[in-house]
Order: sequence, then C-alpha cells, then structure tokens
Amino acid sequence: MNKLQPRVRFFNYSSVKAALGYDDTTATYTHSLNGDWQFQYLASPLDIPDEFFTAAYDKMQWSTIQVPGHMELQGYGEPNYTNLDFPIPADPPEVPSKNPTGLYYRTFDYQQQLDRQILRFDGVDSFFKVWVNGQSLGDGHGSRLMTEFDVTDLLVEGENTIAIEVDKWSKYSFLEDQDQWWLSGIFRDVTLLDETALNDIQITPVFKDDQWQARIVLGETGDHFAPVHATIFDGETAIINTTLTDPETMIDVPDAKEWNDEEPNLYTLVLSLSEDGPFVPMRFGFRRIEMLDDQICLNGVPILINGVNRHEFDPRRGRALTREYIRSEVTQIKSLHINAIRTSHYPDAPYFYDVCDEIGLMVFDECDLETHGVNGIDAPCKDPYWKEEFVERGQRMVHRDFDHPSIIVWSLGNESNFGPNFVAMANAIRAIDPSRMIHYEPDQETVVTDMYSTMYTAIDELEKRATRYGHIKPHILCEYDHAMGAGPGSLQDYQDVFRLYPGLQGGFIWEWKDHGIAQDTPTGTKYVWGGAFNEPVNDGIFCIDGLARPDRVPSPGLVEFSRVIQPFAFFVAQNHVVVRSLYHYRTLTDLTLRWTLVSAGVEVASGNEPIAALAAGRLSHVLTLAVPAGSLEDAQLTLSVVTNEAVGIFEKGSVLAFDQVAYHGVPAQTPADVKVSFSPSKLVLTCNDSEVRVDLGTGNVAQLNLHGTSVLRDEMALNVDRMPICNDWKIMDDRKQDHLAPLSYRLEHFAIAKSEDTVMVLLQQRVKPLVRQWGIELETMLWISASGLSVQTRGWFDGEDQPTEVPRIGYDLPLTAPAEKISWYGNGPTEAYPDSYLSCPIGSYERSRAEWGFDYVVPQEAGNRMGVWRASVTLAQTQTALQVTGAEPLNLNVVGAGGVTLQAETQTDDLRIDAKVAGLGSNACGPLPLERYRVYTAPFDYAFMLHF
Ligand code: GAL
Ligand code: MG
Repeated sequence: MNKLQPRVRFFNYSSVKAALGYDDTTATYTHSLNGDWQFQYLASPLDIPDEFFTAAYDKMQWSTIQVPGHMELQGYGEPNYTNLDFPIPADPPEVPSKNPTGLYYRTFDYQQQLDRQILRFDGVDSFFKVWVNGQSLGDGHGSRLMTEFDVTDLLVEGENTIAIEVDKWSKYSFLEDQDQWWLSGIFRDVTLLDETALNDIQITPVFKDDQWQARIVLGETGDHFAPVHATIFDGETAIINTTLTDPETMIDVPDAKEWNDEEPNLYTLVLSLSEDGPFVPMRFGFRRIEMLDDQICLNGVPILINGVNRHEFDPRRGRALTREYIRSEVTQIKSLHINAIRTSHYPDAPYFYDVCDEIGLMVFDECDLETHGVNGIDAPCKDPYWKEEFVERGQRMVHRDFDHPSIIVWSLGNESNFGPNFVAMANAIRAIDPSRMIHYEPDQETVVTDMYSTMYTAIDELEKRATRYGHIKPHILCEYDHAMGAGPGSLQDYQDVFRLYPGLQGGFIWEWKDHGIAQDTPTGTKYVWGGAFNEPVNDGIFCIDGLARPDRVPSPGLVEFSRVIQPFAFFVAQNHVVVRSLYHYRTLTDLTLRWTLVSAGVEVASGNEPIAALAAGRLSHVLTLAVPAGSLEDAQLTLSVVTNEAVGIFEKGSVLAFDQVAYHGVPAQTPADVKVSFSPSKLVLTCNDSEVRVDLGTGNVAQLNLHGTSVLRDEMALNVDRMPICNDWKIMDDRKQDHLAPLSYRLEHFAIAKSEDTVMVLLQQRVKPLVRQWGIELETMLWISASGLSVQTRGWFDGEDQPTEVPRIGYDLPLTAPAEKISWYGNGPTEAYPDSYLSCPIGSYERSRAEWGFDYVVPQEAGNRMGVWRASVTLAQTQTALQVTGAEPLNLNVVGAGGVTLQAETQTDDLRIDAKVAGLGSNACGPLPLERYRVYTAPFDYAFMLHF
C-alpha cells in the first residue's frame, strides 16, 4: 500500500549545478535520518511493549544506537560467523522465538517542500516494521535491497516521530545464508526524500548504425504524462537539450565517448518537470555488452575478467561502510590493475556503484540470495512458496541499479541450487533489462545464464572445457584461487589459460579481503574470526581468506596478483625490448621504459627510454638499451613501464608493470641495416646481407639466408615426434592414434616492431595434427639483428584428445646440404638422453656426420646431444657454418631428412633444436622411463639463436 514498487534510486536537487555535483548527501530535498536513535534491545519480538512506537510511550530507560550500524557491533548481541551452516535450526520458514530484536526511535523536524515524501531504507537486516507518527507504515525485508515507503499522508509540519522494529532472524534469513558474519540492524542510510511526480528513470545506451543513442524510459508522472525537460551533460557542458513528451524516448548522441573500465566516460542526464527545478540527475555511460563469436564483448572487444569477489566489510563497522571507506577501497582495488568486482553475494551499498562507474570497474551485480544451508532436494528455488520472493529480489536489484554503466552482468545469487524459481527470476530480469547478461553459477547447464560459471576449477579441467572451436557459451570462474592464508599459487598459470583460450574469459579471486573483526588489546589491534564470540556454531578461520588483511594491507599474494595482471608485457632479446600493451581500449602516451642492468649485485648500466604512444593491444617500437658489449656474470635486466603524466588514478611516476630477465650479454655490435618487406605470401626480413623469410600462410621461417647462402631447404617447423626406439614398441599403437606427425601450421596473427637495427616479429600460430582435434597454440618471437635470428617460442597443447606425452618438442631445420661436421659445447661426445648421460661430461667436442649417431642394428632414434650451450654445424658443399646458441642448454641432433636416423640412406639432413626430449627407459621388456624423464604436453617455453 505505502510501499513503493521497485525503481531506480535517485535524488532531487535545487539547482543544475548541485545536480551535476552528484553528491546526494547535500541534495536539497534529501533529509538524512542517519545519526543517533533511541534504542531498546530485546531477546525476542514477544517482549515488545505495546504502543512502543508512540511518542507517549516512555523511553527514558532506552539507550542509543548509531544508524547506520549493526546492533552486534554496538554492544547488542554478538557477531556469529558461519559459512554455510545456520546458527538456528534449518527449519524454513520458521525461526526461533528467541530472536534478538532492536527497537529504534527518533524524532525529526520536517517542513514540506515538494509534492510527495518518500522514506527510503538502503539496508536493514533482516526484517523490519516501521511506524511514522504512531501509524503503521508497513514492513520490509531483503537485507541488502532498497525499500521505500510513501509517507506523504503521514507527515506533519514540525516534529515527527519514527519507530522501527528490527528482527535479527526472519524467514528471509533462509535466503540470506552468505558466508559471512551474521550482523543485523539498520546498517545503511535512512533517508526522507521530497519528490515531484517524476518517478523512475531507466537509461539504456543503444548502438545502432554506428551511432549512440540513449533510450530513456520514465515512470509514471501522474495520470497523464507531463512533459519532462531533459538535458544531457558531458561534464559541465550541456550537449543536448530537449523535452520528453512520451514515457519512452530515443535520443541521438553524436560522437558519444564510450564507457569502458579503462576510459570510464560518463554523461549526466538531468530531468525536471519545471524549468526551475527541482532537478534529478542520473549518470550513465555509452557501452554495449553483447556476445560476439561466443565471447562476452564490451564495446565489441572480448572482456578478460581479472576480478575479485568483494564482500562489504569494515573490521570495525561490519557491512555499515562509510562513503570514504568505499571510495578508498575501490580505488585501492583499481590501483592494483584489478578490472572487475563480483559483489559477492548481494547488491552493495549504492555509493559503491557510483565509484565503479567513475573510476572504471566492471561489476557483476549479485542478488541478495543464498540458501546454502538448505540446498537439499527441497531447496527454496524448487518450492513455489518462495517463487514470488525470488522474482521480487531480482526485480528490486535490477530496478535500483539499472543506470550504472559499470554493471555489465546481473548475477542471480550464489549457492542456492537451481530450479524453477531461478527461471522465473531470470525471465523477470530480462523483461526489465535485456541489455545485460545473466550469471548464476549453479545453473550448470546454462538454462537461463549467458555464460558457464564454475568455482575453483583446476587448470587442466578448464583447458578441457575450453574447446577452442566448439560453439559454446563462454566460461567465467565466479570464484578461483582461494586466497586463504599464504597464497594463492598458480595465479600466472590461470592467467595463461585465460589469455590462451577465447572461451575462458577470466574470473574472480575468492576473495578480496579477510573479514576479521577488530578488537583493541593493550598491545594493539587484533583481528578475530569465527569462535571469538564463543559462538556454538561457527566456521573458524574461513572468513580469513582474502588477498588483503582486514586492515587492507596487501598480502604477498595480492602483490603477486597485481604483477600477474599488469597491463604491459615485455619481450626481450639481448639489449632489445618490445613492450606490448595489454589494455583493451586505451591508448597510453607519455610512458617511459625504465631499465637497470645488474651483474653480480652491481649496477652496470641503467636508462630511460621514451615509449611512443601505445595503442591498446599493440607493440611498441623496438627499444634498444645502451649496454656495454660483451658477456656479464650473473646478470639481470630489470624493466619497468612508468607514467610520465597522471593516468586515471595513477599518479605521474607510477610503475604500471615490471619484469626481469636473465641477461646473457650482447656481442660487439656490427652496424646493421634492417629492412622489412613483403613478397607474395612471405614476410621478408633483411639484415645486411642475411635474410629471413616467414611464410604468411604457415607462420614458419621458410628461408634463411646467411650472407648469401641459403641453409633451409624447407620450412623450419615445430615438431613433437621422433623415430620410435625399441623401448617404444609397446606404446606405439597408442601413439599412432595421436597422429604426432605430420603437423600442419596456420598463422593466426602477427605483429612487427622495428627500430633501425632490429626487428621483432610476434607470430601466433595454430599447429594441428591430421585426424585429431588436439592442437598447439604457439607464440613465437623472431628477432633479427646484426647478431642473427633469435627465436623465442612458447607453446600450449590443447584439445580434449590431446596426448598426455610426446617423445620430443622442438624445431626441425631441413638443411640444404648434409651436415658435414658438428662441433658443440655440451654433454658429449656420444649421444645423451635425460635418463642416460653420466658417461657424457660437458666439454667442447667435434664430430663428423659419420661419427654422429650410434649405428643401432635396428634403425631407430639416435644421436641426441644434451646440455648444448652452443654448436656449429658445417654444411657440405658450401662449408657454411650454422651457429646455434641456447638461452638455456638445448638438445641438439642431426638426423636424416624427415627424421630417420643418419645411418639410413639419406642424402639430406635435418637439424633438430629441441626444448625437450624424452628419456629412453627399457620398456621393450621392462618399465617405461620414470615420470621425470618423460615429456608431458605441458606448456613449454624456450629460446635459441641462429647467428648470421
Ligand atoms: C564458495 C562460496 C563463497 C565462500 C567460499 C569459501 O563456495 O561461494 O561464498 O564460502 O566458497 O571461502
Ligand atoms: Mg556459501
């Protein structure tokens, strides 16, 4: 009756200027009822005295309580931490009669200013009843949702009274079983608002025919729709001025600046029924969320969520957060390069979204719904009794938060099983707002959700699910890498698979911060967890599972997370560096690459290199660092990207990213003249009189010309097979099924960065076998400079039928002439394999082709040399020496063309430069090689150089 239908949360201001200031604490027609209230704490609602809500009732004995705040943190009752268990009988909808109850009372002065008056509660936990001037107004629930009442007819000029009963437990508690402290009371703002007939404002950005429009839908403004003045502001500048004559209007906004988490451009719509106000401002942004190629895209670009789950928690105030606390926490989160927040597991205080809109964070707004402790076969989501409540909770969240551009996804709740009530809720949400996507983790079949969502999924399981070319909905980890205590580990491993598989669009760490309650002791503040208040049922330290401590001091795990998700990547070869922007939208200008070279603990050189404007996703030019020539002992090159100017929340001089690589020295540089050109189907890279040609179809190096001599007769390509040895016989039938050879190669993407004397080519290749679905994703950097061609390759196997092991991983270089003689520094002189090399000490060796492999009676793989730091292979006829060095020791072999052993009658040879080769074992009759000698299809990473 008095309760308002769900709608957006807004304020009336007396001037346009104040409206644009957007500070509702100073809005003229807003009367905060926060502050000290009279308070009476009771053990049960049965103890409530009659007529307590009247002015006449004697409250002399009452104490005071602060609103907003929790009863339990102000000395009334005690906090209780549980994860999924209820500290009351799990007997929905019944709650115990011993049910802590708070009675609140205050008076306030009021003079009518506008037509109608609304009483707004932003959060009361968990059930409440309200009386104004002794008259019952109604009741409210949905602890983290907004409840509004029309009090126009109840207010009087001058002094008014308001009384509130708050019950800690209610039937709704069974829907609010989130993993947190049970804390009740009026914990968010209470506000009295003067309003006009202007009622609800929904702004949806629409992108049509390359043009942004704002769809404005207004609520009822009385019996007939009265015209509404509407102005759209960009900052302080009015860009559109119009009158809305219909409840729904489309407004073209030419040249609108888009909102995204990196460039959070906001606009303000200011509405008024009369020219001189009052004025209602509503901020919004132009951004679109859509599914393109089975990926969630924000403004056409696939998103990568590097997010955190965030509970609202202040160690002294619980969920009663101040605006200052919210702003400083969200800003801290943003400053760590985190780009998204899941409001686990309820809608947050309204101010939170204003800050996210402003500083740029993507939000999964989650409904106040978790039935964890009663999720059995008769879970509430399957029981018609609760249906309306489910639907209403969804509607209340979506209406309240409708206009926030930061919210890109509606989340239906957490850990509440799945059933028809969720279907009804999702339908209701889509009916209000079809412009955003829907998330809900327990909907494992994605009946109503737009994305798969799982928690704590292991990386190999994620890879299995991320079928690269299948058309399925994308996958988000709503929780992963549980951050309890030390850790979490493997942050980079998760990041690798997120970046590798288009279907994995990232996730949210569980969780942002520990929820330890602060207690002052003579020796300082300590933070306590479940059990500290002698709660008979509690989950102990499970609330101390965040990346930051309760006082927000970052744990080492948080520092690591921030490093893993930093917005720049570095590619380094010798003294050349290329920086790649990992931003999705923003171009950064005014950056510096700061570097330091330290050898055996002593700084040898350092410098600052300006980075030219770097667009999202792009490579910088090659930056060449002036380091002294020659090799250095135990040297590390440390690189960082530093801002020259303030960027968003980052001040001038902020380090946005850093990396460190082992430095192996640079040979004395001969001047180089590097050129890049294209011939049909080839990328041609020339340096002085040497040349490298990359095939634009396969992405492989197709030709290598050393000072005029061509050394490759065919493409240099990554391979994973070798000729079987006798000890492979038993596994050969299985191995054949994997189709390890031949492989085919496809170039998917390439980028070039250049300086005068160096060029770097970044290649992304897809490697596939015949018949099978597995594949290898390769990322290779080729650097060409006067020293030669250096190759750095990272690879990931994927696909559901991927082999678990391969006999080797490395490049085959088909040579133009047989290898006449090979000299090397490494294990030798004979062949060596990981489980058989003790007879091969490291040294400098030289062998002719005839002496290279062992002549096994039955032809098979032979001849691998391990631990090779450098080698030189002299080709017959031309006598060209092909010189190879490894960044780390390599495996090297010379085999007959196509991989057969040299003893077979071959005319031509292949040079193998391998990252890994498998051991030998004795499986012809005995066991397979020990696990540590096998080559698993794990990600690999290695580098070597072919000298000019
Ligand atoms: C999840 C749950 C979170 C939290 C976490 C354990 O299952 O969604 O709310 O309880 O486990 O810390
Ligand atoms: Mg739970």
